[in-house]
Amino acid sequence: MSQALATKQEENDSYEVDQSFYEDVISGLTGTYKTLSPKYFYDEVGSRFFDEICELEEYYPYQTELKLLPRAAKDIADIFLKPVSIVEFGAGSLLKIRPLFDEIKQVREFIPIDISGEHLNQACDELRSEFPNINIQARHADFCRPVDLPVFRGQRLGFFPGSTIGNFTPDQASDFLLSARKTLGKDAFMLVGVDTKKTPELLHNAYNDTQGVTAKFNKNILDRINREMNADIETKNFDHYAFYNTAKGRIEMHLVSKKKQSIDILGKQIEFKTGESIHTECSYKYAPEDFTALVSTSGWNVDQVWLADKDMFSMFLLRAKAVI
Ligand code: AVJ
Repeated sequence: MSQALATKQEENDSYEVDQSFYEDVISGLTGTYKTLSPKYFYDEVGSRFFDEICELEEYYPYQTELKLLPRAAKDIADIFLKPVSIVEFGAGSLLKIRPLFDEIKQVREFIPIDISGEHLNQACDELRSEFPNINIQARHADFCRPVDLPVFRGQRLGFFPGSTIGNFTPDQASDFLLSARKTLGKDAFMLVGVDTKKTPELLHNAYNDTQGVTAKFNKNILDRINREMNADIETKNFDHYAFYNTAKGRIEMHLVSKKKQSIDILGKQIEFKTGESIHTECSYKYAPEDFTALVSTSGWNVDQVWLADKDMFSMFLLRAKAVI
C-alpha cells in the first residue's frame, strides 16, 4: 500500500472499507475487461446523487416501490406476534423503512447496514427522534459479507428494498440470499424489492435521464477515486453509457473513454484506448416466476408477492426454509 493511502486511512475510522476500495480499484482497472463495483458509488456525494435519481420522473423503481410498501406492510403486519427485529441490507438514506414501522407494531429493533457510514448516521438520528421506542443500531459495513447480529429474542425480518439485489448476478443473488438465511435464522422472513422485466425503452430511460443525474452518479465513482486516492482522472474524458441487455435481462452501466489516455492512481499508470469501457454496474430485472425460482434454491420460500401497477415493480415476502 502506498504512503498516501496509509496516511489517509489512519485518520479514518472506516479503514476496512477504504482498503478494499483501493484494492478493488486497482484489480478492477488492471484486467483486460475493466470494471468497478457499484457498491463504490455510494460515498457522501454519490449517496446524494442517488437520492436525486430517486426524485426523477424517469426513475420509476423508487416511486413505484414506495407506493407498494404501505400495502405490503399492512398485509404482513399480522404475521408478527413476537417482538420483531428488522435488518436492512444497504440501507442508504432510510427512505423506505417508515411504512414498516408504522404498520408492524411489534418492531423493537432496527439494524440498518450500509457501506456509507456518515450518510447512514445522519439518517438514523432523524429516525430515532421519530421512533423513540425502536432501538436503532446502525452498522457501517459491506452487507455482501456475513454480519454478526446482536442476540434478539423474537423474530427477524430482513429488508432489502430498491431492487439492490439486481446489482448481483443471479448466482451472487442466490449466495446472498443463502447467507442472509443463515444470518437471520430459521424463523425469519425477508421482504425484497425486485425490479421487473419490461420494455427496453422504459428501462433505458430510467438509466438515461434527460437531466443527466445518472451520468453524474456514474462519473462520481471516478471523482471519488480522485478524492480518495489523489488520482488525476478527467471525468470529462469519459462518457456515461447505459443500455438494456435483453439477452442477459440487465441494465449495464459503463464509463467509456472518449480518447486514448492514461490515468495515474497512486503511482500506478492505467492506459485507456479510445472507446474502452469501465463496466460500473449491472442491474438485473426479473420476471416474477424467475425470481421465485431463484429464491427457492437459496434457502427461502415465497410467501407473498405484490405487483405494482402495470407490473412495473415487485415485492416479495420470503419465509425461511426450516432446513437448508
Ligand atoms: C440502487 C442498485 C437499485 O440499479 O436501479 C440507479 C442504482 N443505478 N441508477 C438500480 C442505480 C443507476 C439502482 N440500485
